[in-house]
Amino acid sequence: MTSPLLGIRSIRDLPIENKRVFLRVDFNVPLEGSKITDDSRIREALPTIKHTLERGARLVCASHLGRPKKGPDPKYSLEPAAARLAELLGQEVTLPEDCVGDAAKKVVYDLRGGSICLLENLRFHPEEEKDDEAFCRELAELADVYVDDAFGAVHRAHASVHGLAKLFRDRGCGFLLEKEIAALGKIVTAPEKPYVAVLGGAKVSDKIAVVESLLEKVSALIVGGAMANTFLAARGNNMQASLVETDKVALARTILDKARDRRVDVLLPVDVVVAPGVGASAGTVVNVDALPPNTMALDIGPASVKAFAARFADAKTVFWNGPMGLFERPAFAEGTFGVARAIANSSAFTVVGGGDSAAAVYAAGGDIASKMKHISTGGGAALELIEGKKLPGIEVLRTGEPAVSA
Ligand code: 3PG
Repeated sequence: MTSPLLGIRSIRDLPIENKRVFLRVDFNVPLEGSKITDDSRIREALPTIKHTLERGARLVCASHLGRPKKGPDPKYSLEPAAARLAELLGQEVTLPEDCVGDAAKKVVYDLRGGSICLLENLRFHPEEEKDDEAFCRELAELADVYVDDAFGAVHRAHASVHGLAKLFRDRGCGFLLEKEIAALGKIVTAPEKPYVAVLGGAKVSDKIAVVESLLEKVSALIVGGAMANTFLAARGNNMQASLVETDKVALARTILDKARDRRVDVLLPVDVVVAPGVGASAGTVVNVDALPPNTMALDIGPASVKAFAARFADAKTVFWNGPMGLFERPAFAEGTFGVARAIANSSAFTVVGGGDSAAAVYAAGGDIASKMKHISTGGGAALELIEGKKLPGIEVLRTGEPAVSA
């Protein structure tokens, strides 16, 4: 079996001493106004940042934030991220007002060994998302070595994760990207069986490709969250006012047939927590055959958690992506938290996809997060890797790709 990291140099082996290092991080963190509500992406980048600074490099960090469409917009400034990073590092982090041009150059040229700046949002320039060559060259002028640690963005063929990397002979991955590729790569290439995948979230349509690919590999597929409603409807259950993607019911039926042909067990909820609407402050547990009229399923019930937990107990690999219900509301959180607890207590190699499922694991509290073997910082990127896709930001780091010096 070939390693998923084959041909990718680690920051450990790159000549960064006294060099200007361009470090692509994913500081696309959730914000309420200017307050960061989850700083895990910043904390996860710290090992690479500290290592680089300790080796005396002049560190130029860069990231996108949100999806600004009309140039610079204070709402999408990386200022809160720079402030949080400075707090975590206990050292100053300079933030030039732009990621290219004179403002950026001045700050970068003034950096001393062991000091750091964070460039302003790369997406203030539309060229970033276009993988524009001239923009890549402008960014390349700021550094001697390229390091990518932005796992959350490696599925995007954007300038700072793709075209820019090609301009550096010395390029490689940081510790976070290395850890993500190793953990997710292991379950794509050599998952130990029994392998149980758990998918949740709202829509079947978002997960079709990953379901198709998982059916080739897993021993059991567990489906919860609103997407389970569509599968239950395909099995003939009356889901009453629940969210059902009516145009995907036939597809759900085809997936169930395929799973049966491949002898993959598909586990759907046997009970759900229903309420008249998403604003309700309490729900009632009912069997999936007996949803009262005008109610909607907003969580899975305790019997479902128990049935799912039984499959984690003897699994060797568990991959989880997507919550089991509306976990942000306490009345509908227990299904998601129960599944989180059961996965955390399994002795399997447990991997949690990013986005909502990572947020749910942290919200579940206790030592649940620390018991997971790996919690990904990437949402879309993790799913695309699990689908078996080659991701542009990873492939460009392999030494096989032609490189020229910047
Ligand atoms: C993410 O949050 O999934 C990444 O930062 C990528 O962001 P994007 O979906 O806006 O490209």
